[in-house]
Amino acid sequence: MPSATSSLRQAIQAAGGSLPFSQFMALALYGDGGFYSGSGRAGRRGDFITSPEVGPLFGAVLARAIDDVWQRCGQPDDFTIVEVGAGPGTLARSIVAASPRCLEKGTYVAVEVSESQRALHPDTVVSAAHMPTTVLNGVIIANELFDNLPFDLWVYDDGWRQSHIIDTPQGFAEVLKSADVPSCLPSRAPHGSRAPAHTEAVHWLQSALHSLTRGALIAIDYCTPTTAEVASMPWREWLRTYAQHERGVHYLKNAGDQDITTQVCIDQLASVREPDAVRSQSQFLQLWGIDELVEEGRREWEKSAAAPTVAAIKMRSRITEAEALLDRSGLGNFTVLQWVNQV
Ligand SMILES: C[S@@+](CC[C@H](N)C(=O)[O-])C[C@H]1O[C@@H](n2cnc3c(N)ncnc32)[C@H](O)[C@@H]1O
Repeated sequence: MPSATSSLRQAIQAAGGSLPFSQFMALALYGDGGFYSGSGRAGRRGDFITSPEVGPLFGAVLARAIDDVWQRCGQPDDFTIVEVGAGPGTLARSIVAASPRCLEKGTYVAVEVSESQRALHPDTVVSAAHMPTTVLNGVIIANELFDNLPFDLWVYDDGWRQSHIIDTPQGFAEVLKSADVPSCLPSRAPHGSRAPAHTEAVHWLQSALHSLTRGALIAIDYCTPTTAEVASMPWREWLRTYAQHERGVHYLKNAGDQDITTQVCIDQLASVREPDAVRSQSQFLQLWGIDELVEEGRREWEKSAAAPTVAAIKMRSRITEAEALLDRSGLGNFTVLQWVNQV
């Protein structure tokens, strides 16, 4: 497979000398030699830890929230859980292991663009490269998907101008071009400000909500309420790169060897449709009974602490998993956005 750098060079040349940043990001992550086309992934042996990778507790709580939607839909037999950006299938495993009632007859579809990660999905789910076009009754879940969808990058330089990437003998570089300014950007910003326009996330949300007849879409990510707030941050705080559990280098460097992610602006998603609920991850997990599951874990551990079994050790680990998932300076501060259709 060609490297991401050579694929990007070819694409820049074919496009006449420059690519909008969103296309650069799409190829650096998902093109030939791209980060997710190779070995890039969530997990302890991967590049970053997400909530499902903390342990099975996150999926067990989510399974309760999903069963509630199934009940509101009238307990249909054809219920489908569609998880998009499923990575190596860790969340799928945890949700299936929690045995939600909706899956007694229903189906779990794990959608993942990366072929190498699809190969890791468990046999208990339907693994797919694309979203189903119709979900009659179901829940669409996206944990840390939006932050990884290619976005356009805008820079305030006496007015907003769009970042395009060129190829130079010293490596990839940025040029700014005038273009129609998206309405999500604030009319004024400090000189040198940068902001994302979540072009692909907005498009994905529109089509996912359109595909869902009855049920809910639950998206979990690191979010900021408005694009104006993100524009006022130092850009390295919201446009982040990761590789092997460390912050990476500049986003134009090491193409294919590092993840590129953005803080997600809720106002841009709300322009598709206002979410029906916006909660922090800690509020969401508490609403769906994380404390009860931790207590159950503690009781089970205490019963067999003298002669611990693997099952008891797993129950005990709920205590430390909950601490990480609820931590308000980390995962607990993520945002859970929920859209509901006809329930
Ligand atoms: C940050 S990872 C999160 C993985 C997993 N959800 C987790 O929380 O551990 C984002 C994943 O979304 C996948 N992805 C990106 N765009 C996608 C799309 N349009 N459809 C399906 N998967 C996508 C990437 O390949 C990557 O595996």
